[in-house]
Amino acid sequence: MFKPDLIVLEETESTQDIAGKMALDEAPSGTSVMALRQIKGRGRSRSYWHSPPGKNLALSVIVRPTIKVQECPLLGMLASITTADLVDDLCHPFKAYLKWPNDVLIQDRKIAGILSEARILNGIVEFIVLGVGLNINSRAEDFPDELCESLTSFFIITGKTFDLKKVGISFLERLADLVHKVEHEGADFVPLLWEQRWRHKGQMLVRDGVMGTAIGIGPDGGLLMKIHDGEILNITSGTISLL
Ligand code: BTN
Repeated sequence: MFKPDLIVLEETESTQDIAGKMALDEAPSGTSVMALRQIKGRGRSRSYWHSPPGKNLALSVIVRPTIKVQECPLLGMLASITTADLVDDLCHPFKAYLKWPNDVLIQDRKIAGILSEARILNGIVEFIVLGVGLNINSRAEDFPDELCESLTSFFIITGKTFDLKKVGISFLERLADLVHKVEHEGADFVPLLWEQRWRHKGQMLVRDGVMGTAIGIGPDGGLLMKIHDGEILNITSGTISLL
């Protein structure tokens, strides 16, 4: 049973590493670590997650779901749906959208990203660490120059500053509702829920030089792309660009 329990650290290299170690030491589902200053944040595809000290949410959550290995991406999707719901509430009247696999966008700029790391042993999902990086009190000048045009934050959108811990707790309460749903009903509902916020549904996309239309999300969270001869590709990794 997922039960949120938040540990707040002043500073760490990566909350993802701390939560991963705690999970290996049997920490229960819901144990979460946030850092007020994260100095070596990790992003997807081995990238560095830039976050100026003390300004944004860096949170990692241990989840121990009973799901099949191929369904692991659906838990990352739960985290992006939860983040988008929270962004909608705190940045009203603006609406958050999702970019596959898990970027959260508002006004077509990225406000949050999710790093989902699973530990699988003998074909069984032992745990997943969901890492959420949410830009909250960053000013435009806090972002690196090359990312300034593509990133945003709660402060940039609303002009208000937010308490990082309160935002973290609110995220966990919302995530708990969705994880409990998975615990009771399984994860089949996730792709459809995610699609409702999909920014690029029906649009032309390119992946590794192959062009196609984004038509849906498959049962395991893959992006379904219809290419010119009508074939449907199930894309499970990589980066998608807009045409
Ligand atoms: C992305 O590349 O979009 C995902 C970024 C995920 C960053 C978060 S911040 C909290 C957690 N700790 C990390 O080192 N990374 C994740």
